[in-house]
Amino acid sequence: MAIPRETVEQILQAAHIEEVVGEFVTLKKRGSNMWGNCPFHNEKTPSFSVNPARNIFKCFGCGKAGDSAKFLMEHEHFSYPEALRYLAKKYNIKIEEKEQTAEEIMQQSIREKMFNVNEFADKYFVDTLWNTDEGKTIGLQYFRERGYFDPIIQKFHLGYSPAEWDAFTKHAKQNGYSDELLEQIGLSIKGQKGLYDRYHGRVMFPIHSLTGRVIGFGGRILTNDKKSPKYQNSPESEIYDKKQTLYGIYFAKNAIARQDECILVEGYFDVLRMHQIGIENVVASSGTSLTMEQIRLVKRYTKNITMLYDGDAAGVHAALRGTDMILSEGMNVRVVVLPPEHDPDTFGKEFSVEYVSNYLKDNAKDFVRFKTELLLKDAQNDPIKRGQVIRDIVETISVIPDSIFRITYVKECSRLLDMSEQTLTNELNKILRAKFKKSLGVEDNVAPETETTTMPKQEETVEDQLPAGYYQERELVKLLLMYGREMIVDEREDENGQKIYEQVSVAQFIVDDLKNDGFIFTNAVNKKIFDIFDHAIDEGPIPKGQYFTSNEDETIAQLAADLLSSPYKLDQWEKFSIFVKSEENNLRATVLSSIYRYKDLIIEDRRKAVEEELKNTEDMDDQLILLKRKKDLDDIRKQINKELGIVIAK
Ligand code: CTP
Ligand code: MN
Repeated sequence: MAIPRETVEQILQAAHIEEVVGEFVTLKKRGSNMWGNCPFHNEKTPSFSVNPARNIFKCFGCGKAGDSAKFLMEHEHFSYPEALRYLAKKYNIKIEEKEQTAEEIMQQSIREKMFNVNEFADKYFVDTLWNTDEGKTIGLQYFRERGYFDPIIQKFHLGYSPAEWDAFTKHAKQNGYSDELLEQIGLSIKGQKGLYDRYHGRVMFPIHSLTGRVIGFGGRILTNDKKSPKYQNSPESEIYDKKQTLYGIYFAKNAIARQDECILVEGYFDVLRMHQIGIENVVASSGTSLTMEQIRLVKRYTKNITMLYDGDAAGVHAALRGTDMILSEGMNVRVVVLPPEHDPDTFGKEFSVEYVSNYLKDNAKDFVRFKTELLLKDAQNDPIKRGQVIRDIVETISVIPDSIFRITYVKECSRLLDMSEQTLTNELNKILRAKFKKSLGVEDNVAPETETTTMPKQEETVEDQLPAGYYQERELVKLLLMYGREMIVDEREDENGQKIYEQVSVAQFIVDDLKNDGFIFTNAVNKKIFDIFDHAIDEGPIPKGQYFTSNEDETIAQLAADLLSSPYKLDQWEKFSIFVKSEENNLRATVLSSIYRYKDLIIEDRRKAVEEELKNTEDMDDQLILLKRKKDLDDIRKQINKELGIVIAK
């Protein structure tokens, strides 16, 4: 009885390599990896590394490497299914073990047949390209004329389908493939005179699955026949789901992981060209807009996507499409626009790999900035359009799951848009609150007929119902969960004004700071988690994320799982060149800015309350007291913002 494929994937995605390995090997964090003594060979200095971002281990001493399942197979001598069962248990994933139904067996064999006929067709097209006169003079010639060398043509299994109406179909039928199968998989089309070849007279691109099996084809026309589309592509089938597929992923996945970046282009030839000049971390969306599934596919290897698009208007607009979706997956998106006359194929043909690489480096803009500049250029000085631009940008920022990145972008956009940060933050918080409310299933029902100018606006009502600092509270909880045990340097002054430095845990840093200044979390679950850490600081040990995700208190477990499932990646910060280089300082800056943002919002809230009170107070003495309180709060806010400024500018 097999474990269903989706479950296998679910298990492997849930398994955190550092946790799995951590059960057997003591690991210490250094840089973005963790290190320990290799359990597979004898050593005194650690050369065994665990890379949490890529979810793999590797020993630089003995060379053993792999994912969580592989580790267990090596270490515990489990079989693959045993390793999966172990992980499923560890991560509370249910394996549905059921006998396959007759229908499933049928289904299974249909899939096998489809893979089979595709492989047959792939061989045929490749063979035709290299070994027939027509293939050589038309197909191979075409690729060579476009500047492609034989190794790349071979690597990607490019082929040729003869111009004859039904050459392939006839050949396939002679080899026992049924009309029905050929039609289902889309290699052949049923016409009035019988089955004929979908791709006749085209050069062929097989489309490979992640594991390298041929799941479909694309064929490019070689004539100027305007009645036929430039590309013919396989229809969807049991084995070909367009929204799950990226052209080139099989050839690119290792390079994507290695370089921690995925370059996204539009077309088949763009992928080929980049590979030919030695840039291999490239996949194509094949001319359609990107889907969530495709993004998740990339996310298995990296969180960094660079979109490389044609310099023309269509290319630029393609770059705008789908990107909010990538951002919402917590990925870092950058955009490179090519000179107007180029696409990646022609660009790579004209210039050297050094030039192309440098161009990519020098022209990659992070997406929020790209979009802001682009829209601003469109809006020029038109105030109405400008208003739209601002809303549009803030909407984009609001989809970014990580609040610290959001803050960063608000800062940058405030500069680009020449608007106060506060205004943008307010706008952003409105959207976030509305979204949050929506996620609770409470839709904002605006009733325009009954709405009058004296009624409070809908957003204001929404805002009032979420406690101030709600998101910042969660952000601090997230930091506690993820980095509670990590050590950072606490810098403070003693009575004589001398600076003292000491190592404290992130948990202690946060808890002490908030307690000293009398801040208490308002959300009950947040408070519970805070209290657990508060307690653990005295009683030790400081619990790990796992303690919370598997907590018997459902509300704690749920929140912890939510927060931990979209991890920070501190080393990404360097790319935004906002923080100092060392990771430790990054962590400290993260923690500090989180604390300040939180305090700032709480103080702002208190200040608002005082202002409200002022409005309703007639008594002069009371007014004076309130004014003094307001001034104090203002001073505290100024101080907080000053310190926040220092942290961020450092
Ligand atoms: N595409 C398609 N069907 C079309 C046109 C395009 O499926 N009729 C897809 C193909 O995957 C193609 C991609 O969209 O690779 C980009 O289209 P385009 O830029 O027009 O093609 P190129 O790949 O640049 O091909 P060429 O350089 O040969 O024109
Ligand atoms: Mn092209």
